[in-house]
Formats: sequence, structure tokens, C-alpha cells
Amino acid sequence: MNAFIRSVVRCALNLRPETSVWGVIDGWKGLINNEYRRLSKLDVAGIASQGGTILGTVRAPELGENPDLQHQVARNLDENYFDYLFVCGGNGSLKACATLDRIIKAEGLRTRIMACPGSIDNDVANNYGTSIGFYSALDRSLEMLEWIRNTASSHRRVYLIGSMGRDSAYLAFYAGIATGAEYIIRPRENVNYEKLATMIEERDRDTRIVVAEGYNKSLEEIRTILEEIFRRRNIKREIRTVDMGYFQRGGQAAVTDILRASWLGYRMVTDALLGKYSGFYTAFYTGHYQDPLPLDVAADDSRSNHLDIPQEIIKMTIALR
Ligand code: F6P
Repeated sequence: MNAFIRSVVRCALNLRPETSVWGVIDGWKGLINNEYRRLSKLDVAGIASQGGTILGTVRAPELGENPDLQHQVARNLDENYFDYLFVCGGNGSLKACATLDRIIKAEGLRTRIMACPGSIDNDVANNYGTSIGFYSALDRSLEMLEWIRNTASSHRRVYLIGSMGRDSAYLAFYAGIATGAEYIIRPRENVNYEKLATMIEERDRDTRIVVAEGYNKSLEEIRTILEEIFRRRNIKREIRTVDMGYFQRGGQAAVTDILRASWLGYRMVTDALLGKYSGFYTAFYTGHYQDPLPLDVAADDSRSNHLDIPQEIIKMTIALR
């Protein structure tokens, strides 16, 4: 997120020095309450690799259901003479951007909206690019999964390890592949627990099973099911649970996220300086150029998104086992 902020500020001020750039404090909350602060090049110095966001981001679920608030945000932007709003956010933000854009157009207001995907879940228009923050969260997850390996291996234990990611399989699955986890339970998966127990039985030492947040059973419920099977089949293995949760979000940003955020910020600013209309910008890698999607297309999950892992990647994971 910070690399994106830095990119927008630096590109705008370097490419057109007379521009004034304002940061919105606390995301959508700040847009509702009209809270901004002017940003200089110095304000964004040295932040590219910092986790989180220097501007803050507070969830505002009330915005989704309240047309009065939505109109208020559109008017706030207009009354403050903002020509462009640059947003880096998840699904909720993208939907809010599409709604705002509709209101702005219908009411003939001034501000154009340029948005890009920012989410550890990688569930934002991922048919078109990778979310900023996803690889950073993978780096954190990989570290944690390697730490757990030590105890799992020394104690010959089975670890059920929870991963964030909402309904998307991506964070859990890719973290699992990267660390060589024994099994990764995806959201909506129909798990064959008898087979899973056999797989565990055949292993010697460290067994780590990564469980995606969107799966319909908790870590404790999975543990109970497996322990019951172990008892019945006389499998002598201890099971422990641990959740990577909020730790997956923090720390230093991954280099690929920093570069992609910089690239998208640059693309959005250069298009804004050309007077282009609202749109959703995304890329799979730095330098990946594609036309921005209309915001309503990007926000329509059925057209822009898939939550599960492509079959070929699942096959690769099985081949790597
Ligand atoms: O969408 C990002 C995410 O980290 C999800 O993976 C997770 O389910 C959710 O946010 C947690 O949200 P909160 O911080 O509001 O508990």
C-alpha cells in the first residue's frame, strides 16, 4: 500500500509539479468525514517497503448499504475540487468505487476514479492481475510455516495451520505450495478425511496441513474429525492447531508488490495527466500493460474473478508432493 501511495505522490509531483496531492486519512472513513492531508515528496520518502499504510485505512461497511453516504462522498470529492481519486483496495473498495463512479457520472460531478487491487486475498479481478500485498503476505506465511516445521518435525506432530484469505483459496494454497505443506484444504473443498489420515500415517515427521479461512470447518473441528479417525485406526499421531491470521498481513513488503504497486501508480497518474476517465488498473508483473477495465466490469466478480486455483496448478502441487 505504501509503495502505491509513494508512486502516486512522486509520479504526480515529478511529472506535473503544479499538481497538489492529498492523502485521504483512514480510507473510506476519511472520504465520508472529509479528512485529508497534503502530501509532499518528502512525506513519502523511504516508505515503499513498509507494511500497512501511512494514511490509515478504516473499514466503513455502512457505506455499502447507505446511498445517502455514497452521495455524500461523491459530493465531498467534488466540493474539494479533487480531479482524481486513486484507490488501492480490496473487493469492498472496488465495489464502492464502481458505485461512486456511477453517482458521479449521473450527477455530472467532477472527480474521476482510478483503482487498483490491494488485498492479501488476491481475490480482486484476479483474471487480470495479482493484488498488491498478496506476495508480501505469502512471504510472511512462508516464514511462519518454516518455523512451525521445526516443532512439527522434532515432535513428530501434525499441525493444522489456519491462513487468512476469506473465500479465496490463493493465500493458503500458494503458501502451502511454497513451503511444501503436506496438504492444503481449500474453501468449498470436499475433503476425504480417511484419505487424509492415510497420507498423514504414511509420513514420518513434520506434517503441516494449511487450512484456508473460507473452508467450512474450524481448525478444532478438523482436528476432532482426524483424531476420531486416528483412534479408530490406531494411528499414533498428535495434532496441534495454530492460526497465522493477522501476522500474515504485517512486516516488510515483498519486492514484487513494491514494483507492481509502483508500476500501477505510475500508469494511473500518467493516464490521469492525459485526462483519462475512471478505470481499474491491474497487472500480473511490472511493465505488464493492459487497458484499464471499466470499474463496473472489474467489480463484477462473475466477469473478473475466480476464487479457486486453476486445475493445472493443483496438478503441479500434487506432482511436487
Ligand atoms: O481481506 C483481507 C483480510 O485480511 C482477510 O483475509 C480476512 O478475512 C480479513 O481481512 C480480516 O479482517 P479484519 O481485520 O476486519 O478482521
